[in-house]
Amino acid sequence: QPIKTAFTITPKADRISAAEREELLKAPGFGRVFSEHMAVVTYTEGKGWHTPEILPRQPLQLDPAASVLHYAQEIFEGMKAYRSPTGEPLLFRPDANARRFRRSAERMAMAQVPEELFLDAVKQLVKIDADWIPAPEVGTLYIRPFMIATEVALGVKPSAEYKFIVIACAAGDYFSKDAGPVTVWVEENTVRASRGGTGEAKCGGNYAASLTAQQEAKENGCHQVLFLDASERKWIEEMGGMNIVAALDDGSLLTPPLKGTILHGITRDSLLTLARSQGLTVREEPYAIDQLYADIASGRLRELFACGTAAVVTPIGTLKTSKGEHVISKETGAVTASLRQALCDMQFGRTHDTQGWVHTV
Ligand code: COI
Repeated sequence: QPIKTAFTITPKADRISAAEREELLKAPGFGRVFSEHMAVVTYTEGKGWHTPEILPRQPLQLDPAASVLHYAQEIFEGMKAYRSPTGEPLLFRPDANARRFRRSAERMAMAQVPEELFLDAVKQLVKIDADWIPAPEVGTLYIRPFMIATEVALGVKPSAEYKFIVIACAAGDYFSKDAGPVTVWVEENTVRASRGGTGEAKCGGNYAASLTAQQEAKENGCHQVLFLDASERKWIEEMGGMNIVAALDDGSLLTPPLKGTILHGITRDSLLTLARSQGLTVREEPYAIDQLYADIASGRLRELFACGTAAVVTPIGTLKTSKGEHVISKETGAVTASLRQALCDMQFGRTHDTQGWVHTV
């Protein structure tokens, strides 16, 4: 049930000075420069969601037997606040994040956060920490809503208590490299998700499962990893934390379909919608890795890119495996660049929002 209570707001007493904040926001990287507050809401079985609070950002107090620490009942979201040309904070499709959060909660047998509560928590945090949204040329405020199971119990069962928390950090580029295409490791050993598993839920476990492959990628000089399907190791699926899309020589886009093992990326969906509205053909079809290599060799595959909230639209220049390299391009392709531009123009409020996606806070 939606809670009626408004958030109680306790502002941080010793706020960082404007000069210090400006310095921190010059080159924030990703996920290290945090804003000063957090939203916290508590769930108790029988009572529902209660005690919505905006607090100074601080460490959590957790009992060592809290179920999240043992059985990983945890889900999260990734979204951003953008600074418009007139300085207003904008959110991009926050309702889609709220809906995906509910679906993730359902898969992990967790309490459902009502959409209004999710949106209210995000908006309240963005309002109080609006000064932490970097200038558009630097980046955005990355918002991380998450939910953890807090019941003190070691029995394996859905928790009866949860905390829904929202934090935020300044976000420059996700990839710590100069602009331009990244190199991606095609993971042939471990898999990220299998049919019937938790692949399309945004739960921490999926990301933990991607880390050995990500380590292997790094050891092999790659920035990211691409996973293949679990049963045949034949079809491309998702990357470590983003979706993948190919642009072909007939002007069409091709991306793997959402069949339970791939995250329903909001950036993915937005790009496909924008591409369709520009008259491009979009195919959501299985794509075999061997076909993809053949298409690189023949020139049928013109461009390949990663997309996600953190990654935005990142061109992929090279795919690498234990057997060798498949080079696509050293430059960002025209389709990739134009889709990125169209998306960012909308997110930053620079173009007319034809889709009703942009929300003022
Ligand atoms: C996001 O893009 O928001 C994610 O959650 C993925 C992660 C790689 C940061």
